Amino acid sequence: MSEDVYRAANRANWDDRAVLHATDQGGMYGIAAVLAGRSSLHPVDVAGIGDVRGLRVAHLQCHIGLDTLSLAHLGAHPVGLDFSAEAVAAARGFAARAGRPDVAFVEADVYAARAALDGAFDLVYVTWGAINWLPDIARWAAVAASLLKPGGRLFLAETHPSALVLDEVDGRLVPRFDWLTPEGAPIASDESTSYTGDPRPIARTRNYEWIHPLSAIVTGLLAAGLRLTRLDEHETLPYRLYPSMVPADRDDDGRVFTFRLADGAVRFPLSFSLTAEKPL
Ligand SMILES: C[S@@+](CC[C@H](N)C(=O)[O-])C[C@H]1O[C@@H](n2cnc3c(N)ncnc32)[C@H](O)[C@@H]1O
Repeated sequence: MSEDVYRAANRANWDDRAVLHATDQGGMYGIAAVLAGRSSLHPVDVAGIGDVRGLRVAHLQCHIGLDTLSLAHLGAHPVGLDFSAEAVAAARGFAARAGRPDVAFVEADVYAARAALDGAFDLVYVTWGAINWLPDIARWAAVAASLLKPGGRLFLAETHPSALVLDEVDGRLVPRFDWLTPEGAPIASDESTSYTGDPRPIARTRNYEWIHPLSAIVTGLLAAGLRLTRLDEHETLPYRLYPSMVPADRDDDGRVFTFRLADGAVRFPLSFSLTAEKPL
């Protein structure tokens, strides 16, 4: 099957998820808090991006725009990009409801982001469940680099590839997926509901994903001319990758912010974050 087939299936799947997520019955997205002017960014993201006041930010794969709006609440000038028409429509609706018509959203494939977005950016922001939908990580890195102005930086926070190879079976974590996914042979899944805990069914269930090793991500960024300035590994994730994971912390409304492995489990990194700069 071709990349176009994978992309079309993923876009249909994300359109269906976006409709569900925009009315968030699981409460995972904290929509009301963002509409009230608060930030939905996770502690790892906040620590990783630092002060964003006044920065032009490209938020790639922005989904329903809540993190994009959060960046605006923190003083940045963000634009969100996503290939899901439903996600972009929801994001625009939230921007209007939040009184932030200045926050724009663009419907485009991430590989076409350079042509779809105007100008150069101080920060390219990519987090939590983005690069696993992309077949070619080096091509993605080149796109991210092309969006940055000299001195600008990319912030990436993602599920750790070492965690992605495991699956939980009868309460035990066991290796299930190869550590790198060939471009032409993605991991195909059919999930009848979304990860938010919302019981409503997804109509178009099929999706395709890729596991990218940390080395491929880092060498892709270096080959794109960026300079790696920070790489961290973390024991938390903003979602429950394995059913046995437990809440690690909560926000002011009591909403679970991040999950960790249960007490007594052998510890390993569940996520990583990095910063890469475009040289002046
Ligand atoms: C798990 S969400 C990312 C969450 C996001 N970080 C946020 O701010 O909420 C994944 C998003 O990637 C988008 N996506 C997947 N493949 C894409 C592609 N090739 N181009 C653009 N967007 C894509 C989906 O439509 C979806 O909105």
